[in-house]
Amino acid sequence: MSKNIIIFFGPPGSGKGTQAEMLERKTDWKKISTGDLFRSEIAAGTKFGKSADKYLKAGKLVPDKITVKLVEQGLKQKASGFIFDGFPRNKKQLSQLLDLFKKVLKKNDRVYAIEVAVGDKEVKQRLSQRRMCACGRVYHLFYNPPINKGVCDICGGKLFIRNDDKPKVIINRLKIYHHDGEPILDYWRKQGKLIKINGEQPIRKIHEEIMGKLKELKLI
Ligand code: AP5
Ligand code: MG
Ligand code: ZN
Repeated sequence: MSKNIIIFFGPPGSGKGTQAEMLERKTDWKKISTGDLFRSEIAAGTKFGKSADKYLKAGKLVPDKITVKLVEQGLKQKASGFIFDGFPRNKKQLSQLLDLFKKVLKKNDRVYAIEVAVGDKEVKQRLSQRRMCACGRVYHLFYNPPINKGVCDICGGKLFIRNDDKPKVIINRLKIYHHDGEPILDYWRKQGKLIKINGEQPIRKIHEEIMGKLKELKLI
């Protein structure tokens, strides 16, 4: 059976995590979110988490070597597909991922990137109202609120504000995205593998568009 790889790409706050989770619930593909993986290592206080923490706090990228290792481990899981959220996000990571694909993917396996396009102004608005749960579930105070205030619908955990969702750090994250992201988009575009979605629409509408495109491509 062939494998599908869907790569969510977009600026901070574009809804990659939100859409990746919705897609994961509709398929039997496994989500690999580098940001979530780092955050759970940090919360668990591991050595690995401690070394990643300073990069996340500053809105800088964690060194590629550590990040690629995480992804390599994730790809070893048994699954009919993978959903990438937040990886690859620079040229080096892209070329390392393509090397990994050469090792683990077969001829009929299919890879597509989904660009969730959102402008900087909207990003800042969204991130200032985001709330998170340690289980990875994402909320927004207006657009996607939890049923009970401050509490996760899924696991009952207490919601918190991410410590990189501060105006200064958001500006830094956006700067890195615009600098490092363009060559990645170019690559997928030239390969004819880029699905561009207008990310400034309601969450459900975006999800439906994504499902429609994946059906068109006979991936689901
Ligand atoms: P990561 O966790 O990947 O953060 P990011 O790329 O900055 O993206 P976010 O998670 O902030 O946003 P999102 O696009 O997932 O949006 P969300 O669904 O939450 O990375 C964090 C850090 O980890 C990096 O800075 C770096 O340090 C490190 N890292 C991670 N990957 C790395 C890598 N590959 N290499 C090196 N370092 C790495 O939505 C945002 C908000 O908007 C939510 O409140 C949501 O409810 C709301 N929302 C979503 N969609 C909509 C919509 N359509 N309309 C209205 N509101 C919406
Ligand atoms: Mg995210
Ligand atoms: Zn939760």
